[in-house]
Amino acid sequence: MRSYSQNNIAPRDTYNRPISDLRVSLLDQCNFRCTYCMPEREFHSEYQFLKKHQRLSHEEIFRIVKIAVELGVTKVRLTGGEPLLDKNISKLINLISEVKEIEDLALTTNGVLLRKHANDMMKAGLHRITISLDSIDEVTFNKMNGNRASVKKVLDGIEAAEKAGFDKIKINTVIQRGVNDDSIVNLLDHFRGTGHIVRLIEFMDVGNQNDWKMDNVVTAKEMLKIIEQHWEVIPLEKTYAGEVAKRYKYKDGEGEIGFITSISEPFCSNCGRVRLSADGMLYTCLFASVGTDLRKLLRSDASDHEIKNVISSRWLERKDRYSETRNNQTTDITEKKIEMYRMGG
Ligand code: GTP
Ligand code: 5AD
Ligand code: SF4
Ligand code: SF4
Repeated sequence: MRSYSQNNIAPRDTYNRPISDLRVSLLDQCNFRCTYCMPEREFHSEYQFLKKHQRLSHEEIFRIVKIAVELGVTKVRLTGGEPLLDKNISKLINLISEVKEIEDLALTTNGVLLRKHANDMMKAGLHRITISLDSIDEVTFNKMNGNRASVKKVLDGIEAAEKAGFDKIKINTVIQRGVNDDSIVNLLDHFRGTGHIVRLIEFMDVGNQNDWKMDNVVTAKEMLKIIEQHWEVIPLEKTYAGEVAKRYKYKDGEGEIGFITSISEPFCSNCGRVRLSADGMLYTCLFASVGTDLRKLLRSDASDHEIKNVISSRWLERKDRYSETRNNQTTDITEKKIEMYRMGG
């Protein structure tokens, strides 16, 4: 096995990809029950979420962040479940924002708790916010989130984030055929001219319980066709290598739209994302079935150097490119994938 300590330069995986992003899931709980992520039938009131002692503490997360930075990470995203259910999130943001190598510190949230947290997070040094909102139609949105929140509440969260000083907020919308594809135009119309960026996400086969079928995927190409019936749009260059979204702007200057084409045009070749779950497992792919237990190491007497070596060795062996090989895979995959709410979107 190649070892990081032998050369002490940032490790590259078997496809020569460096580690660039760390995505941290703060907890496995969420106040929504999105049908494709945490369906109510399974995540009912008796469901056993991780207990506090099973989750990494902020100190443990911060220790991994600092080690990841030494390995080349410059972008950190806090996610969940719903990360704002962690009442002390601003303290963690404050710690991470002090690390000068981190150029980008972002958060993904469903938005309903933003009214409460947005100001504190801005003060703590959070750079950017991404808000998930699957439809602007109340009935559709309600159905999709398991009756947990209204569109109005999320829009109120967005307003709170704006007031706190966050701009260019990204609005993530997962599109499923026959579920919310009929509200794409209204959603775009709502955010046109606001400076916020809607990102239309192709429905992915993450986890095991979202009944994913290719038929339910609306590809970016199809979405573009719908959009072009209403507005003229122009493709934009990538802002950085490895950018996940394909960007377009409205010709009339009213803003930008992104497409996340994990299904129709996968982007594994530039993928430097590593994920840390709330219980301290490290995953090198969104579609992973197995991970590396960092919690055990953190709670042993392992030094930072030893932990760094474990992460680096894992990265050096990395062969993940699930989305690029998806089409060659058959449905007889027996390994259970880790659910997205656990490993962080
Ligand atoms: P920016 O830092 O704002 O550019 O965000 P991002 O492009 O990394 O996107 P974000 O974190 O908002 O993720 C948007 C969506 O892209 C997620 O909800 C996933 O659906 C998808 N996505 C993000 N990372 C990956 C990945 O590593 N692999 C795949 N297949 N999809 C991903
Ligand atoms: N396909 C695409 N995106 C998904 N997300 C959750 N599950 C899926 C899926 N199956 C998105 C959420 C959120 C982000 C964290 O991941 O909608 O925007
Ligand atoms: Fe919660 Fe996001 Fe999953 Fe919906 S998609 S249940 S908001 S973690
Ligand atoms: Fe990266 Fe895996 Fe997503 Fe490909 S499928 S972009 S390797 S996380």
